[in-house]
Amino acid sequence: MIILAIETSCDETSVAILEAKKVISNVTISQILEQQKYGGVLPSLAAKLHIKNIQKVLLQALREAKKSPLEIDYIAYTERPGLIICLQIGKIMAETLALYLNKPLFPCNHLAGHIYASLLDKQEEWIFPALALIISGGHTQIYQANNHSNFALLGETLDDAVGECLDKSAILLGYTYPGGPVIEKLALAGQNVYRLPFPKNDHSLDFSFSGLKSEVGRLINAKRESINIKDLACSLQHILAKILGQKLKNAWLANPAKTIIIGGGVIANQFLRNYLVEEIKKWDEKIKVFFPEIKYSTDNAAMIGILAYYKFLYGK
Ligand code: KG4
Ligand code: ZN
Repeated sequence: MIILAIETSCDETSVAILEAKKVISNVTISQILEQQKYGGVLPSLAAKLHIKNIQKVLLQALREAKKSPLEIDYIAYTERPGLIICLQIGKIMAETLALYLNKPLFPCNHLAGHIYASLLDKQEEWIFPALALIISGGHTQIYQANNHSNFALLGETLDDAVGECLDKSAILLGYTYPGGPVIEKLALAGQNVYRLPFPKNDHSLDFSFSGLKSEVGRLINAKRESINIKDLACSLQHILAKILGQKLKNAWLANPAKTIIIGGGVIANQFLRNYLVEEIKKWDEKIKVFFPEIKYSTDNAAMIGILAYYKFLYGK
């Protein structure tokens, strides 16, 4: 079963070809360099660059997979959420291919794709019930699932997403978008010495990160020359890990799960991966923890392809 998947929801133009769960090609052109001067993603520029790059990415993905379009069995694309003018480009490309090749089309949810990325290239399956934490640039959410067709939202951020907090903090520290990789690098040479505030524990499973970013700004303004940027990055990474670990624990205590899945661009962070694995082990050694490989953590089409594969298997 060969699936061709397209992802254009934000600033990555990506096409992947999968044989069931196995990735045979996954080609991505990132717009990071072009978007950096805007300190984020400018939708009109993103759409222009998707149009410029999508044909190139499609051809390269087919070439690397050594497949002709006629060998494709299913077409998948990101339907939502994302920048509407960018999503439409992937949709038109996918619909045209499906029409021309006379193949079934799978519209896919980008966030579900981040969760299913943890199954790419793996034999192992999740054991239900499961909890899924999504930590990306636009979303921070926890879901509970009893099977593949039933994901219930338990909590989400009330303001900034984790990735957004890292992106905005990096700009306050004088760096450019995307902030997550910058903070991770700075933190490697820093110490956890700044006491950043833990959000008020309201016992809900919702998150709030905007206060943290404001505190980073306040510290930078108050201390100016004496601030140690590496230590501040390290302290920010620590407090974010602690908040995510604590919320995940609360979710697990209320909904004991056999599997915990963590997806989204922020889980490309190695410190956070190690921290969460160690935390989860303390609750119950038997919990299975699933992450995507680092290369499938940030936006890519392979995660949309595997989501389509499971939609095919479970009819949803
Ligand atoms: O999932 P993603 O690629 O795009 C969205 O769907 O939003 O996530 C992008 C986010 C950005 O906020 C970026 O700063 C963050 O993921 N990110 C990281 C790392 N790499 C990307 N955050 C922490 N550590 C990283 N290594
Ligand atoms: Zn994403």
